[in-house]
Amino acid sequence: MAKILVTGGLGYIGSHTVVELQQQGFEVVIIDNLSNSKIEVLDNITTITNTKPDFNKIDLKEKNAVFNLFETTKIDGVIHFAASKAVGESVELPLVYYENNINTLVYLLQAMEKYNVQNFIFSSSCTVYGQADELPITEKAPIKPAESPYGNTKQIGEEIITDATKVSNLKAIALRYFNPIGAHPSAKIGELPIGVPQNLIPFVTQTAAGIRKQLSVFGDDYPTKDGTAIRDYIHVVDLAKAHIVALNRLLQHKNKSNFEVFNLGTGKGNSVLEVIKTFEKVSEKKLNYKITERRAGDITAAYANTNFANNELGWKAKLSLEEALASAWKWQQQL
Ligand code: WQD
Repeated sequence: MAKILVTGGLGYIGSHTVVELQQQGFEVVIIDNLSNSKIEVLDNITTITNTKPDFNKIDLKEKNAVFNLFETTKIDGVIHFAASKAVGESVELPLVYYENNINTLVYLLQAMEKYNVQNFIFSSSCTVYGQADELPITEKAPIKPAESPYGNTKQIGEEIITDATKVSNLKAIALRYFNPIGAHPSAKIGELPIGVPQNLIPFVTQTAAGIRKQLSVFGDDYPTKDGTAIRDYIHVVDLAKAHIVALNRLLQHKNKSNFEVFNLGTGKGNSVLEVIKTFEKVSEKKLNYKITERRAGDITAAYANTNFANNELGWKAKLSLEEALASAWKWQQQL
């Protein structure tokens, strides 16, 4: 049974991916420093799969600890989620973001090189495209100058991986996520934002739960059908499944080059107001919101051209916006 190291495996997307890995017969080793996740997630994963993943509380900034793990554990592949991901925070704390997202990637790749671990899946983001000139967005869309240090760490990360694959037998796939939302249907795992949620859906569900007084819709003067910004909201379970498809592509040597990139989205764009209306329908709750100014750095619209992921990777998102929002609400209600 292949053993897969999942960094950030107790986080939002990481935990959903661990569940899918275990359910597809992989043995899982999780590294997480618990800076943006809770140890209870380990038991919640175990409740879903009846198999407790191996867990190591390690901070990837501790180079020796990273090397020691590879020294003592035979790893067949790595899925790398562990990183800081708050766009706004990255503007205020750029050096924290460059240290935590870049140094750790280098240490991980150095350890993989030393211990001859060849298969690497990297958590990237559609944020690398900025406001794309053409919609839907393909993998060939130009990379735009990053609007935040967070986005820059994803761009730099992809460049580091590209260079590393040129001089070693490392094979890598970068998965550029659009907007991950929702929770596992069991409602045992889901998004656990710490403090005031930055992302739309946790703010929506916390407002519906009465934790937040009112949702602010950041701008209704965008050049879109209803004036609010458009995004490609993808169910986190669909997203998690894509990681296993990508991992198998490498394990089965089906990759066409040693660094491949795939956009992971549904291919559909929804505006903020459409999301609100859909949430009200699935939750049967009226959402208290008001229109406010645009948020700095936000783009008008982004949604994926899914042809390459569908035809080359062999993966397609199956779950609807309704299902994703219903799962997010079910998760919020049990919190
Ligand atoms: C979605 C839409 C907001 C909150 C970011 C990162 C991306 C990835 C996902 C990490 C936008 C609007 C939001 C609110 C609102 N992060 N909004 N009121 O900005 O598309 O993407 O998160 O990997 O890399 O860039 O996601 O959920 O913050 O916003 O009106 O309280 O909802 O303006 O149009 P975003 P988001």
